[in-house]
Amino acid sequence: MVSRVIPVEEFDLVIFGGTGDLARRKILPGLFRRFLSNQMPAGSRIIGAARTDMDSDGYRQMIREAIAEFGGDESKDKECIEKFVAQLHYIPVDAKGTGGWEELHDLIRFEVVNAFYFSVAPSLFGDLAERLHSFKIADDDSRVVVEKPFGRDLETAKALNATLAEHFDESQIYRIDHYLGKETVQNLMAVRFGNMLFEPLWNNHYVDHIQITVAETVGVGGRGAYYDQSGAMRDMVQNHLMQLLCLIAMESPSMFDADAVRDEKLKVIRALQAVEPHHIVRGQYDANKDSPSYRDDAEDPRSHTESFVALRCEIANWRWAGVPFYLRTGKKLKARSSEIIVVFKDIGHSIFPGDEKRHRNILSIQLQPNEGMQLQVTIKEPGPGGMRLIDVPLDMTFAEALGPDAEDSTDAYERLIMDVIRGNQTLFMRGDEVEAAWAWTDPLIEGWKARGDVPKLYDQGSSGPEDALMLMHREGRRWHEIKE
Ligand code: BG6
Repeated sequence: MVSRVIPVEEFDLVIFGGTGDLARRKILPGLFRRFLSNQMPAGSRIIGAARTDMDSDGYRQMIREAIAEFGGDESKDKECIEKFVAQLHYIPVDAKGTGGWEELHDLIRFEVVNAFYFSVAPSLFGDLAERLHSFKIADDDSRVVVEKPFGRDLETAKALNATLAEHFDESQIYRIDHYLGKETVQNLMAVRFGNMLFEPLWNNHYVDHIQITVAETVGVGGRGAYYDQSGAMRDMVQNHLMQLLCLIAMESPSMFDADAVRDEKLKVIRALQAVEPHHIVRGQYDANKDSPSYRDDAEDPRSHTESFVALRCEIANWRWAGVPFYLRTGKKLKARSSEIIVVFKDIGHSIFPGDEKRHRNILSIQLQPNEGMQLQVTIKEPGPGGMRLIDVPLDMTFAEALGPDAEDSTDAYERLIMDVIRGNQTLFMRGDEVEAAWAWTDPLIEGWKARGDVPKLYDQGSSGPEDALMLMHREGRRWHEIKE
């Protein structure tokens, strides 16, 4: 396959939290894959920085092991691994003190792209940003990358934005939502704005409703302490599902450019109406004979944090007024499956005698694990005996249609890090976008608290609590089945 990737310039990338879980699992193995794809120009350096006292050789060994554990098939090529780790450095740095900063200053080059990845707790963002400036390590061209969670409500997100803004311009800040780095999520924009077919129908005249499901089979075991302070609303809806909603609902940007795209997404979030309490369902997975309950995983027998949420919302603008958007996400569900379903309205009148059924077209877009699209269309049932109609899917599994070219194993993180080096912010969230998303989710979370809402229990391996099904049933609609 001919590489169509845009080359990157030589860079110095500093990873604060360079010994942490995310760095070892995702960031470094991802960078190694980019190295294998010739996306790491000779002379580029990755500098791990963390509290742990170790030297560059110790760090190289740590990353060799991380690549062996998390690097997938590529991790077998010993020679390449050696060439890659030779580009790694390590400096012990005290985020709250002065240790290590002079050394970092001496190492960083200003004549190449330099970027600083804050893979640390948000409470350290301010300390790092301040020291990068006071020690003259970052300049006006440097880039900073920050991870989710970006705050836990509007107030904390505003405070983080203000902290970063003291030292960096918005054009230097890259807020990661790894869903935007997924191939399939970007494909949503290609499907919508690269085809004539869909856009004329993409509005309240033709669309009955839209469903967005991100279902997971994993639980929260191991991450209970973080997750219990967060819950599905903060962990998934405020960011990942909101981004999917934006890409599905936004107007066409005038061009595929960072601010043009983010302006349109922001308008969607700002047009979201408040959700009525009876339009939102929270759930918690129950124990079964083989597997502990959410409360066991969270180690809090009285936890009221949700591991599942389903809600119905509306967007108050001319395109979407009156069209319900149903969102749901949860852990320990029956399959790992993320999909978007666009259900078009029934045909207004059937010309075929005896055809009682109201036919409707349904566009299903699968995001993961398998990427594909189906369009349900109505045709004549083959054979004699008059005009009997049936609904069949026009199926487009991209791997079948595109062959090996469809198998892009690029991980969301590596794609996004390369965009940082290229200076392309299109797939990163802007500060106002994140704040608008919290402004919409905060009242929902506060509402639960005020009402003493208790999540409904659901069986592991199910589609979530019964009430989530009712959310649609009582409006004469039903969820698309969760299946791989
Ligand atoms: C993360 C959440 O942001 O996304 C996790 O914190 C979740 O709880 C994960 O499991 C899902 O990502 P993916 O790429 O596996 O769909």
